[in-house]
Amino acid sequence: MAGKKSTEPDEDILKNEYLKLVTPLKKPLTIHENRLLQQIQKKFSKKGFRLDINNSEIILYLQSIEFEAFRDYVQDLLDNPENNRDSLLVDKEIFLKIIEDISRIKSYGIKAGKRTYVTYRNERKVKDRQSKVTRRGLYYYAQNNTFSEKNTELPKRYENLIINDDSESVLKQLPDNCIDLIITSPPYNFGLGYDTSTDGVNWEHYFDKLFAVFDECIRVVKFGGRIIINIQPLFSDYIPSHHIISHHFMQKKMIWKGEILWEKNNYNCKYCAWGSWKSPSSPYLKYTWEFLEIFAKGDLKKSGRSEDIDITEDEFKKWVVAKWSVAPERKMDRYDHPAMFPEELVTRALKLFSFEGDVVLDPFNGAGTTCVVAKKTNRKFLGIDISKKYCDMAKKRVTEIL
Ligand SMILES: C[S@@+](CC[C@H](N)C(=O)[O-])C[C@H]1O[C@@H](n2cnc3c(N)ncnc32)[C@H](O)[C@@H]1O
Repeated sequence: MAGKKSTEPDEDILKNEYLKLVTPLKKPLTIHENRLLQQIQKKFSKKGFRLDINNSEIILYLQSIEFEAFRDYVQDLLDNPENNRDSLLVDKEIFLKIIEDISRIKSYGIKAGKRTYVTYRNERKVKDRQSKVTRRGLYYYAQNNTFSEKNTELPKRYENLIINDDSESVLKQLPDNCIDLIITSPPYNFGLGYDTSTDGVNWEHYFDKLFAVFDECIRVVKFGGRIIINIQPLFSDYIPSHHIISHHFMQKKMIWKGEILWEKNNYNCKYCAWGSWKSPSSPYLKYTWEFLEIFAKGDLKKSGRSEDIDITEDEFKKWVVAKWSVAPERKMDRYDHPAMFPEELVTRALKLFSFEGDVVLDPFNGAGTTCVVAKKTNRKFLGIDISKKYCDMAKKRVTEIL
């Protein structure tokens, strides 16, 4: 802020370590506007944020900032004049423009929850990245696939349908390359007591059946389409299901597009099971998260019209950071299903990996969370579950959405 000399960084530092944002002013700021800006500056000044004001512009120097906290603080000042009487007498546009200008900056790093501008570019970079990628062989395991690039439409009679049957046999009836995105949470083989299935069987038998369904999924998903598998390994049996499943998809020449760690924050895991109490002999590790393994068929890029994108700028920036903190589904009793995933998880996956109008399939549909979210987000759906009871619940949930 003009006038504060001793703590000001010198011009070179400003040039190299700060991003400069200029907001032109239509007229000089009033005393109220100045005071409000001073209050904002004071709140966010700790190395990383600095304001210079003259009669024609506000210059904002940014190094790092917790943007959401900044936006909420300024918005609160403007909306609640009782917190600062000056906010009654200011031109709000000036302040909103600053928020908007910061929110529009696309290029930044994240450090300790704060956005960092400029200096993140100094971080260690790989030289000649492209040639190294070529030399190493990009997703080498998925090269020379035999996937056809010709996509077809899902036959109309399957659109927005919930089918009560074994998914392997239903999927066999669908044509190749007709589904845009598959998202599913298969039985984990924990022995959860589903309505019909034998969850909790011999592992080889379990994976044989799972892979028979997944192979059909690979066949029916479009070229460029995605398959997302939500899985929790059975840590207590030392079965890394997420690795075994990923390995299978990669053997089938699907590209491993990435992995999302779904942090459920459910610290109510048993604290009497230590393995070996306070001894390195065999300590038992505990987990509060599950995985979403994401695969792409033939191409990492999916085609779609820009008008069918429904993810917002804020959502995109937040959700590409592949650790999602989402509370587990709390209404399982109401839907009478023991292992549902929450709508929020599916909403993020659909908006990040598919377009409005796309066809979404869930071959282990349960109480129909995928279909519910697909309908709410203007996608078409097909859900399959072996249990009539769960299918009835899924149909009820879907029809209740207006
Ligand atoms: C983890 S649950 C899915 C829950 C679902 N994501 C939800 O939010 O409601 C797995 C589901 O797979 C179903 N299932 C098991 N074997 C199946 C099979 N061969 N074909 C179709 N569904 C099957 C079970 O009935 C169970 O509802």
